Amino acid sequence: MAAGDNNSLTIENGIPRHIAIIMDGNGRWAQKRFMPRAFGHQAGVKAVRKIVEHCAQQGVEVLTLFAFSSENWRRPKEEVSLLMSLFVETLQREIDTLDKNGIRLKFIGDRSAFPEILQEKMRVGETQTKENKALTLVIAANYGGHWDMCQAVQKVVDKMAAGELNKQPISPLLIEEHLSTAGLPDPDLFVRTGGEERVSNFLLWQLAYTEFYFTTTLWPDFDQKSLDDAINSFKSRQRRFGHTGEQILNKPAPL
Ligand code: IPE
Ligand code: IPE
Ligand code: MG
Repeated sequence: MAAGDNNSLTIENGIPRHIAIIMDGNGRWAQKRFMPRAFGHQAGVKAVRKIVEHCAQQGVEVLTLFAFSSENWRRPKEEVSLLMSLFVETLQREIDTLDKNGIRLKFIGDRSAFPEILQEKMRVGETQTKENKALTLVIAANYGGHWDMCQAVQKVVDKMAAGELNKQPISPLLIEEHLSTAGLPDPDLFVRTGGEERVSNFLLWQLAYTEFYFTTTLWPDFDQKSLDDAINSFKSRQRRFGHTGEQILNKPAPL
C-alpha cells in the first residue's frame, strides 16, 4: 500500500494494524545463562506464542515475524540445522491451535532453499488456515528485503515478456503488487528486540513510513507488557507522511 494513502492506519483504539518484529537476542539470552544458543531459540518460540496470542487479543490485523534472514545461512551449520528442525517441530505442533484461534498463516521469503519437509509443513499451514480472519501471522523465513524487491521486478519483467502485462513505466504500485506482501497493509510499527538498531535486510520497501521502536529486551524475555510498551510509544507519535504537524491536527475526522 502506498505510504500515507491509507486513512485508517490504526484500529479505532490506536492499535497498529500491522506490527513487524525482528526477534533478536536469542543467542545472547542463552549465553547469559551459560547455555547453548539452541536453548535461546527454544525459549524464543515460547515468546512467539505469547506475542501472537496477545496481538490477536488486541485486534492487530497483521503480525510479521522475522524468523530467518537470507543472511542467516552464514551461521554455523549446526545452528542452521537446529533452526530448521525447530521450525518443522513448531509448525507441526502449532498449526491446529493457530487454526482453532482463527489465525491465518502466511510465509514470505525464498522457501525453495528449505528442506522439503519444512516446505511441506509451510504449505499445509497456509492451506489449512487460509480462510481464517482473526489475525494474519506472516513468518519471514529465508527472507531479505533485497530478495523481495528483486523477485517483484523479476515477476513484472517476466509478465511483460509473456504479454500478460502491458508495457508500462515501473511505478510504486506495480512493484507493491508483486512484493511478497502484496495485499497486506504496510507495517505501522516496527519492533526490534535485542538492542541492535538496524534493519538487517528486513522489509526494506514496506518500512518506508513505519514507526520504529528498539528495545534492549532480549527476544525470549519480550512479553505482553513489552509489546504494550511498544504500542504505547507508537500511540504517542504523530505520523505526518510528509505533511506538516498542523495539517495533520486540522484534518477533518474520517466519517
Ligand atoms: C534471533 O536471535 C534469532 C535468529 C536470527 C534466528 P539471534 O540468534 O540473532 O540472537 P543473538 O543476536 O545472537 O543474541
Ligand atoms: C535478524 O537478526 C534476523 C532475524 C531475527 C531472523 P540477526 O541477528 O541475524 O541480525 P544481525 O546479523 O545482527 O544484523
Ligand atoms: Mg542476532
